Amino acid sequence: MQTERVILQPEDIDENVIRRAGSLIAAGELVAFPTETVYGLGGDAFDEKAAEKIYAAKGRPSDNPLIVHIARLEDLAKIAEEVPQRAAILAEAFWPGPLTMILKKNKRIPDATTGGLDTVAVRMPNHPVALALIDRSGCPIAAPSANRSGRPSPTEADHVEEDLSGRISMILDGGSVGIGIESTIVDLTESKPMILRPGYVTAEMIEGILEEEVQLDPGLIAEDDSKKPKAPGMKYRHYAPKARMAIVEGNPDQVTEYINAKAAEQIKRGKRAAVIASDESRERYRFGTVLSLGQRSEEESIALGLYGVLRECDSLGVDVIYSESFSTPRMGQAIMNRLLKAAGHLVIQV
Ligand code: TXA
Ligand code: MG
Repeated sequence: MQTERVILQPEDIDENVIRRAGSLIAAGELVAFPTETVYGLGGDAFDEKAAEKIYAAKGRPSDNPLIVHIARLEDLAKIAEEVPQRAAILAEAFWPGPLTMILKKNKRIPDATTGGLDTVAVRMPNHPVALALIDRSGCPIAAPSANRSGRPSPTEADHVEEDLSGRISMILDGGSVGIGIESTIVDLTESKPMILRPGYVTAEMIEGILEEEVQLDPGLIAEDDSKKPKAPGMKYRHYAPKARMAIVEGNPDQVTEYINAKAAEQIKRGKRAAVIASDESRERYRFGTVLSLGQRSEEESIALGLYGVLRECDSLGVDVIYSESFSTPRMGQAIMNRLLKAAGHLVIQV
C-alpha cells in the first residue's frame, strides 16, 4: 500500500485535504493524524474491520483496546451506555484535552474496538486537525498511538512514517505535537475514580474538580506480577528502546560520577553507550552519546523530548542507556511511568 503524506497547517487547514482524509476514514481506511498528546492512527470506531486493520498495521495484540475520539459532546451518548455525572463534570472541565475516560460501552461500539471489554475509552482531543478530521469523517475515530507496537509513541510525522509507511493510507503532518506523552486515563466504572495511566492531567487536578478522592491503579506500581494494571496496554513492555536501559537515582554529583564510570567501562568493552540527561546536566557527561530531554526547570519540555530521544537511541544502535531520573513536580508521575517502562523498571540507587 502506498502511504500518502500531506502537510496541514493546524491554524489554516486545507479543506480539500481534510475532506479527502475524512472520506478515507468513512470508507474504512486508516489515517494517521496529530493530536495534542501524540500522533494517533485513526479508523471508523463503529467499523470492526477498521479496528482489525489498526491492530494489523500496528502489530498490536487485539486484546488491547483502542481509545475512541469524538469532536462533540453529544457524541458521547452514541458511544457510552450511560454518561455518569462525574463524566459530564470532567468533560466540561478538561475537554477538549488530554483526558481519556473509561465508561460502560454502548452496543454500537463493536467488541473489536474495545478488545472484547464491555467498557470503552473516550476522549475529545484538543487539536484543530484531529477535531476537523473527526467532523469530516462523520463518525467517532478509534485511534491508538500511531507507532508499531512496542515502539515509543510518535511525537512527529517523521516518527509515524518510520513505523507505518506502506501500512496505512494517509499521514496528516501537522508538525510536532504539544505535550509529547499520551493522555491521562481515568476509569469511571468503579465506585471511586481510578487513574489507569498518568498523564498531563494529574490526579490532583481531577480531585480538585470532582471534590472526591482519586486512586492510582495499584497494578501500575506493583513491584511484582501479583497485581496487573487494569488498562491492558500498560502491561506490555511499551515505549521500549532496543538497548538495555537503567535509570540512575541519587545525589546529582554521584549520579554523574556513576554514569561517567559505567559509560566509560561499556565503551572500553566495545559497547555503544548513550546517556539521557537534561540541558542543565548534559555538559557533565564525558562518555558515550549524550542526549538531553530538555530543561529540567521546564517539565513540559522534558515530556516533549522523551519519546524522540528514545527513538534516537534506537536509530543510533546503542547497546546500553543510562538515564537520569526525572521526578518533576507536576507531570513527574507521567514522565517516570514512561521512563520506568522503557527501562523495564531497572533503577540503580547511588
Ligand atoms: O493520548 C492518547 O491517548 C493517544 C492519542 C492518539 O489520543 N492515544 C493512545 O492510545 O495513547 P493507545 O492505544 O496507544 O493507548 C490506549 C490505552 C491502552 O493502554 C489501552 O489498554 C487502554 O488505553 N484502554 C483502552 N480502552 C480501555 C478500556 N476499556 N479499559 C481499560 N483500558 C483501556
Ligand atoms: Mg500506544
